[in-house]
Amino acid sequence: MTTRRLVLSRGAALVGAASTGLLLPEIVRAQSNKIRVGFMLPYTGAYAALGVAIENGVRMAINEKGGKLGGREIEWFKVDDESEPSKGVENASRLVQRDKVDVLIGTVHSGVQMGIHKVARESGVLNIIPNAGVHEATRALCAPNVFRTSFTNSQPTLALGKPMFDKGIKRAVWITHKYAAGDQAFEGFRDSFTKAGGTVVKELGLPFPQVEFQALLTEIASLKPDAVACFFAGAPAVKFMKDYAAAGLKDKIPLWGSGFLTEGVLDATGPAAEGVMTTLHYSDSLDIPRNHEFRLAYAKMFKLQPDVYAVQGYDSGQLLVQGLAAVKGDVGNKQALYKAMETGVIDSPRGKWTMSKAHNPIQDMYLRRVEKGENKVLGIAAKAVADSGAGCRMNA
Ligand code: BEZ
Repeated sequence: MTTRRLVLSRGAALVGAASTGLLLPEIVRAQSNKIRVGFMLPYTGAYAALGVAIENGVRMAINEKGGKLGGREIEWFKVDDESEPSKGVENASRLVQRDKVDVLIGTVHSGVQMGIHKVARESGVLNIIPNAGVHEATRALCAPNVFRTSFTNSQPTLALGKPMFDKGIKRAVWITHKYAAGDQAFEGFRDSFTKAGGTVVKELGLPFPQVEFQALLTEIASLKPDAVACFFAGAPAVKFMKDYAAAGLKDKIPLWGSGFLTEGVLDATGPAAEGVMTTLHYSDSLDIPRNHEFRLAYAKMFKLQPDVYAVQGYDSGQLLVQGLAAVKGDVGNKQALYKAMETGVIDSPRGKWTMSKAHNPIQDMYLRRVEKGENKVLGIAAKAVADSGAGCRMNA
């Protein structure tokens, strides 16, 4: 009875509003019944290609399941966040307050993510993080409505130190873009390398997105470490590897890194990337049927080779498909929606993974080497790596 009265009064309000030309956005939305999905990703700047790959992956996963979420059509919204942290809150608010999205998918850059995170925690909107690894989002500031399908910044580098030491590397220099992603990647590297027996002789860095590496490369040459380990991604990674080779360091001091260094950039980098060693939760050459199918379908659909960012976008789409199917498209049924998203297994091109209690993937890390323009898997560097989730109290 109450429901019927509500429907009737809404209907009456709609007629009244329509006749006066004042269509209330909420009523129009209720009538259209489309689920509103917003992308907040970089489409310009140093990480532009990463944003495009993520969006492609999301769309592909949803298209494969009929192009709907829980039986509902989708209305898409997009904001270019430019990897600019100072605009993070404003851009996320635009999607949440102005566009009234039901789901916000974003973003790539850890600093920008903190802006989205503030808006997600305050508004309660469902946020899927398809890349940014900032620890806080799934540690002390974890939230029931925030799910990450990628990694924490220290996850790949926690697998990096031991294989380096096992190759006879005892003294290493670390170099990175100085912001949360690079600094937290360093934590993983420092902990794993020193635990294995190695020494970090120097930490070097420059502000994101600067790419003037010359002075730092000169310093590396004078330090003469056994190897260099680093965090760079996207367009700056291309410039770094090319400058490293041009400075004559490539054949003298082996280059290692968090695997983002060689993702999506091998064509642009060319021979300067050959032989670079990395650890990551994905590799082009992963020899499992799910990866072969995915790579073929992605290349056919987008005329591009997929990379880890496309995989993370694809898994974000898969997670949404699974969650929304469980509640038949009712995003308001948060308890059941979040439960389905927490407990599902994601059948990913990277290998199957599950969600930790803090909402971050538990996943294998692969040791890779660039060979003939491809990230070749050498083996599993660390099995089922879970982030500590330190300080996460989900219902606090
Ligand atoms: C980050 O800012 O969290 C990030 C950006 C690119 C690749 C990996 C991590």
